[in-house]
Amino acid sequence: MKIVLTWYGHSAFRLDVGDDVVLIDPFLTDNAYAPVSAEEVGADYILITHGHGDHVGDAVSIAQRTGALVISNFEICNWLQAQGVDRVHPQHIGGGYSHPFGYLKLTIAHHGSSLPDGSCGGNPAGLLLTTDDKKLYFAGDTGLFYSMCLIGEEGVDLAVLPIGDNFTMGPDDALRAVQLIEPQTVVPVHYDTFEVIQQDPYAWAERVKAETSTEAIVLHPGESYTV
Ligand code: NI
Ligand code: MN
Repeated sequence: MKIVLTWYGHSAFRLDVGDDVVLIDPFLTDNAYAPVSAEEVGADYILITHGHGDHVGDAVSIAQRTGALVISNFEICNWLQAQGVDRVHPQHIGGGYSHPFGYLKLTIAHHGSSLPDGSCGGNPAGLLLTTDDKKLYFAGDTGLFYSMCLIGEEGVDLAVLPIGDNFTMGPDDALRAVQLIEPQTVVPVHYDTFEVIQQDPYAWAERVKAETSTEAIVLHPGESYTV
């Protein structure tokens, strides 16, 4: 089954998996690159990697309008319920669950996870999604860690990695991450949205091409890629 991945800028994605629309880290309203508004975007599921405002984004209003099921760690799910989100599915690091769109496992990420109001958002996570015949890894916000090679051992078709530096891996460490994960394809994210994370994704893609056997795809906000 094909998966259509559409980038909404920063770390926000829409995945079309069969008939299911899955949003990831739906930071739209305060994201100058978002090609859609929180008022119009569709969702059956919303996945949130960690509690920071540029990842939780518009999850509350989108979930309330669409009735989407929100999947995140236990602490963030509790916080969302307190904000008036009815439908949540808590998971945690290392744990996977078979949702209708695929088997979703939360992976470690080295970062913070405080929520917009200062509440504790537990530990940050990455997302490892396994469908019928594809495996997608969204690293979330993280620094480089050696056990990314364990994720790579599962056979990753597509990896989404931050390259912005300052808050996450920068281009050098993201290149090392590609070498550890060895995905078929990599998509760089979490750059240019803020002043301190300006990067040249095309230069990075050239390095990936020169130094690894992975294909690097640079998306424009609103552009889609079929996995
Ligand atoms: Ni963050
Ligand atoms: Mn972030």
